[in-house]
Amino acid sequence: MVLRSVPTRGRTLDHAAFIYDICEPLLLLGKQKEYDNHILALLAPQKSGRILDIGCGTGVLTRMIADALGEGEGGEAVGIDAAAKMIRMARKKRENQTCRFEIMAAENLEFEDASFDGVVSSLFFHHVPLDLKKTTLMEAFRVLKPGGRLVIADMHLPTTSMGWLVSHVSRWFFMQPQIGENIRGVLPELIVQAGFDAPQTVACYFGYVALFNTAKPLSSGMGR
Ligand SMILES: C[S@@+](CC[C@H](N)C(=O)[O-])C[C@H]1O[C@@H](n2cnc3c(N)ncnc32)[C@H](O)[C@@H]1O
Repeated sequence: MVLRSVPTRGRTLDHAAFIYDICEPLLLLGKQKEYDNHILALLAPQKSGRILDIGCGTGVLTRMIADALGEGEGGEAVGIDAAAKMIRMARKKRENQTCRFEIMAAENLEFEDASFDGVVSSLFFHHVPLDLKKTTLMEAFRVLKPGGRLVIADMHLPTTSMGWLVSHVSRWFFMQPQIGENIRGVLPELIVQAGFDAPQTVACYFGYVALFNTAKPLSSGMGR
């Protein structure tokens, strides 16, 4: 069956799907395991929890979440990505009762309101323009249950000279204004605007990738 990517103004990575799993560990400077484990610890999924991974790529983090849920406990890790080739790679590696992948645009999540216990996103927001960052956060808010956790790891205000150099060179080398928005520090404000609690910045990897941890308030409407 031919899988088709969904239209989006985000920068999808169909063209890089076949080498993504070789490049990412290099880009994360050998810290991929530590970085993914940190995200997982913040998410702290219950065995029976339902967790959404937005912009999952080849699904490395989604599979780690599924492993933490355990088989037969009723939990489910769902990875979505707009790039069909990424989803095909992810499905090849694993798809079962606790781990599922769908081709879907982050700004238009095809899930019921309040149907997830946690939402996570790693290195996705610097791929989409400002309006889609906002819409995606509103969608994350909508599909999360009240009290549900949101963990975002993405490019943010650089904290070291090397971080400054790498992030600014990436912005111009890849001609990606979406990176420019991230490294100007827009994410925390957008997270709050979508209705979430003010995010804590719990870590900064490589001097430019921040880990934000927040939650949908227990008594919440549908965003501000
Ligand atoms: C840098 S990769 C991150 C993959 C993975 N989360 C990780 O940490 O390795 C960004 C992903 O976002 C996807 N993407 C870009 N725009 C998107 C959109 N509007 N909706 C869903 N996925 C999108 C790309 O196809 C790509 O797989």
